Amino acid sequence: MKIGIINSGGDVPGINAVIASAVKSGTLYGDEFIGFIRGWEGLLDPVDFVPLNLDSVKSISHLGGTILKTTNKGRFAGKIGEGSINLIPREILEQAFNNAKSLGVEALLVIGGDGTLTAAIQLANLGLQIIGVPKTIDNDLSVTERTFGYSTAVELVVESLGRLHTTAESHDRIFVVETMGRYAGWLALEGGLGGGASAILIPEIRFSYEKLYEYLLKRKDNGKNYSLVVVSEGAMSVEGERVTQEHKTSSEVLLGGIADEVAQKIREMSRSSFEVRSMVLGHLQRGGNPNAADIILSQAYGTAAIRAIHEGRHMEMVALISNKIKTVPISDAVRQFNLVTPDSTSYITAKSMGIFMGQ
Ligand code: F6P
Repeated sequence: MKIGIINSGGDVPGINAVIASAVKSGTLYGDEFIGFIRGWEGLLDPVDFVPLNLDSVKSISHLGGTILKTTNKGRFAGKIGEGSINLIPREILEQAFNNAKSLGVEALLVIGGDGTLTAAIQLANLGLQIIGVPKTIDNDLSVTERTFGYSTAVELVVESLGRLHTTAESHDRIFVVETMGRYAGWLALEGGLGGGASAILIPEIRFSYEKLYEYLLKRKDNGKNYSLVVVSEGAMSVEGERVTQEHKTSSEVLLGGIADEVAQKIREMSRSSFEVRSMVLGHLQRGGNPNAADIILSQAYGTAAIRAIHEGRHMEMVALISNKIKTVPISDAVRQFNLVTPDSTSYITAKSMGIFMGQ
């Protein structure tokens, strides 16, 4: 078969391992591959793609980023803001469909998160065989237990908190550390848990400044003159709004800035008796090489996607369910975000360890 590979949206560590494993596996079936450059844009006029073969995917599985480049803007946005579906104009969908057909592409392997996979459904509805692979450091896709890239991002948060811990303790300071994650608190929660945070503020639970301050004061009274407060970029105080930055180039709002706000508020509430610093981990969480867990998961997904294509599956996504790789309808994965809930294991763990979770 001739298979097209597309990755779209933000890069995450592990994309290259998906591409390499898919090409290696497909080659055993006698498949031919092309990879579209900069996501959906490469499938639209003027088309931009490269042939992919065993030579071009040699020694890339351990590398971060993507050899195909990517973008989270452009003519093929699947979602706007917090979950509303963006209907891609019919002429754009037809252009992509016709370009795929004239290149002889019989199936598309689409590596993406919520927005990319929502766009993929719209193209698949025109009749192009599409199989999705769940990619995002936010871990916010439903049905699958894990998206690739998430584990590496959590590791970065854990390592960063470990480093901040020693300087915070030496200086008797409070550090407010902002993580990515959009509307899901997984990165903040599990990064904070692994990295020894005292407080973790996530989008799923509106936090109280008064209670946070009380908690920090109590720590001080107990001789803990330093604290690490992890705040997810989508977190909101009881009375506040999401802190956003203008996103000039995409239909998605760019979240960010809550760490500064939290730091300033703690400073004010303590009448500057607490020395507070804030920092945003930002794109460090997406950069760099994938860890072993992400390489292995990416390879499992890449090869399963090729199997699914040969089984004739359509509009399905490979997913990790009870530690087995299965396929599920893409629509089930993007219908709603996978969010932290009171019965999430890591939430229960954090509460059981006395970590402040917002209330
Ligand atoms: O969805 C992945 C993600 O890294 C989010 O966690 C973050 O909000 C967003 O992308 C950042 O986007 P950009 O790459 O446009 O800064």
